[in-house]
Amino acid sequence: MIASVRPKRVLAICYSQTGQLARIAKQILVPLQENPGVDVHLEMLRPLPAYPFPWPFFQFFDAFPESAHLIAPKLEPLALTGEEDFDLIILFYQVWFLAPSLPVTAFLRHPLAARLLKNKPVVTVIACRNMWLMAHEKMKSMLASLGGRLIDNVVLSDRGNVFATLITTPLWFLTGRQTGCFGLPPPGIAPSEILQAQRFGLALLGALADDAEKNNTPLLAGLKAVEANPKLYFTEKAAARSFYLWGKLIRAAGKPGQWIRKPILFLYVIFLFTLIVTVIPVSLTLQASIRPLLRKKLARMKHDFELPSGCGTERMSNYVI
Ligand SMILES: Cc1cc2nc3c(=O)[nH]c(=O)nc-3n(C[C@H](O)[C@H](O)[C@H](O)COP(=O)(O)O)c2cc1C
Repeated sequence: MIASVRPKRVLAICYSQTGQLARIAKQILVPLQENPGVDVHLEMLRPLPAYPFPWPFFQFFDAFPESAHLIAPKLEPLALTGEEDFDLIILFYQVWFLAPSLPVTAFLRHPLAARLLKNKPVVTVIACRNMWLMAHEKMKSMLASLGGRLIDNVVLSDRGNVFATLITTPLWFLTGRQTGCFGLPPPGIAPSEILQAQRFGLALLGALADDAEKNNTPLLAGLKAVEANPKLYFTEKAAARSFYLWGKLIRAAGKPGQWIRKPILFLYVIFLFTLIVTVIPVSLTLQASIRPLLRKKLARMKHDFELPSGCGTERMSNYVI
């Protein structure tokens, strides 16, 4: 039980289409919500208009120009005034086209965000397929510009490998069916991993009881918070560049949903498919052939991308779930 004068106040921000990120948020927040020493305000973001699920083919790809350029949609009014004084902010987000998803970007671009986040410790929790490095960079710079202090980053990604999920994940979003195909595992984060995310909530509860959120140091170290694959960095960098440039062209042609964007989107999908079947294998093969030269660089990149929480596991046995 937390014995401070007033309950600790935690703001949790979340958006979820399929319910996957909402389930992760629930696992992490339950230990905090059940403790009388903590007040949790969970703000579920509602974009206007709502994004469809499953996604129609063109609407799915039509979301990439604005994602790449961090152009936020409107949100339904928040149940926040900006006057609240939170002790900790937990920002749950998914990745869309190598950037934080548009509803979460909309929150960060909201006039209230700077007032809520300024000088506050922020924990980010990413749930995505497996390409989050560029999104994390964008998130870090948006948080820095709002004055938030990123003290932890947790990443949960899909159980399948990069190639399997490139097939199964788009099929999930376009059909609404989360099933495997061609012998590949179903897309999405393994249910056992979602369940075990509760360790982060338990660790946050302990940290809040000790006022540790005030220290500007990670609260979730030693809990296997994140495992970065720096080999994907070069692919992500190339893809993010192409999303940005093609996104600029498509945005110049028209607004989201306008028919004029469709022919360019169609061209881009062909280009993207070619990129996927060429750049990823070529980049991974090239890296494999010069691995001894890259070893040190990749190790440094892995370490840096895993900051601040790290991939250590030394506290895992404290939280057997
Ligand atoms: C439009 C769109 C683009 C996505 N792009 C990426 C991506 O670039 N990298 C990635 O790892 N996952 C990507 N994903 C997967 C999401 O990050 C996430 O895992 C999935 O949407 C489940 O989140 P939910 O809780 O909102 O349903 C994308 C999903 C959507 C809908």
